[in-house]
Amino acid sequence: MKTGNSILSSYGTTIFEVMSRLAEEHRAVNLGQGFPDDSGPADVVAEAQRYLAEGWNQYPSMMGLPALRQAVAAHAKRFYGLDVDWAREVMVTSGATEALAACLFGLLEPGDEAVLFQPLYDSYVPIIRCAGAVPRFVALDPAKGWSFTRESLEAAFGPKTKLVVLNNPLNPAAKVWTEAELRVLAEVVVKHDAYVVCDEVYEHLVFDGRRHVPLITLPGMRERCLRIGSAGKTFSLTGWKVGYVTGAPGLMQPVAKAHQFLTFTTPPNLQSAVALGLGKEDAYFTGLAGSMQAKRDRLSAGLRAAGLTVLPAEGTYFLIADIGAHLRDGEDDQAFAKRLTVEAGVTTIPVSAFYETDAPRHLVRFCVCKRDEVLDAGLERLGAYFGG
Ligand SMILES: Cc1ncc(COP(=O)(O)O)c(C=O)c1O
Repeated sequence: MKTGNSILSSYGTTIFEVMSRLAEEHRAVNLGQGFPDDSGPADVVAEAQRYLAEGWNQYPSMMGLPALRQAVAAHAKRFYGLDVDWAREVMVTSGATEALAACLFGLLEPGDEAVLFQPLYDSYVPIIRCAGAVPRFVALDPAKGWSFTRESLEAAFGPKTKLVVLNNPLNPAAKVWTEAELRVLAEVVVKHDAYVVCDEVYEHLVFDGRRHVPLITLPGMRERCLRIGSAGKTFSLTGWKVGYVTGAPGLMQPVAKAHQFLTFTTPPNLQSAVALGLGKEDAYFTGLAGSMQAKRDRLSAGLRAAGLTVLPAEGTYFLIADIGAHLRDGEDDQAFAKRLTVEAGVTTIPVSAFYETDAPRHLVRFCVCKRDEVLDAGLERLGAYFGG
């Protein structure tokens, strides 16, 4: 039997899995993998239970429960002033991960090129390669607020460019794209007649009074963008894997075709619960961002007190520390992250794992979305390790 020749076989076990296993082995405080450790909003969880007990538990509509598609459309209007036709422009998926796969498989043909910003979320490139397409990379500069130049962006585009993948707010860099940056991107996309798959799973996790601007709301972008959201991040229920895609009907058609062969549908009780969640009062959404911002401040202050350099974190579940000054001879971020787990008992994710090319070797990612006592336990260990 022949095995091991598929595109995916060249990928090892993800760094999140590797570091989480190491954390378990060494009983480390795991500030690596990005999931919150609270139980999510009680009313949303209760609705999932109610629907499970009382509702219809057979295959729901392939495009998703109307109640959730209507809620996604209403949410887009409420937060971004975006008019969305729920019946033709919204599709429910099994997490943002499936939404990404459906968008990329739906739009890309073999030989097409896709433009990606580095650092990037780990599932983009394997999906693009499985679609037979070729990734082209644009570097974001950590020393300059993870910015890019128009020249570097233009250089990644060519006659074969089909689409761009934009992650805003950006994991792992904790960057919230400015409107000026988005305008530059929009201009280049129009010039090259491309599409944009917008991974906006952290849309409600932006800090310090910043505003999340979906690219789809910018001039010329309404017909070119597919906007992806995730209930996992918006309701701190990452295990539910409920996502949603919004886009113009012509773009949604090929995406729906891919979705019908990927998962076809998503558990109906979770869809009903997320519909309820998206209609929650404003205080829920501001509270979510506020509590995450407080955790960011707590972790940043503690890391600085332990002697680490912390990069600005404008949104998401994460913050990045520059560990350049702490690297031993010949050590890179991966070796450092392993040493920190084994010797200090704190687990992080090396940022080079978010690169396909030209990775920096002096950055690690900390997850801020943990209970305060977990953050404090990690900080105490780091203080003792670097201080002692
Ligand atoms: C940038 C980004 N996109 C997509 C996902 C996946 O979201 P979901 O759990 O809804 O599939 C994640 C999860 O960590 C993420 O960080």
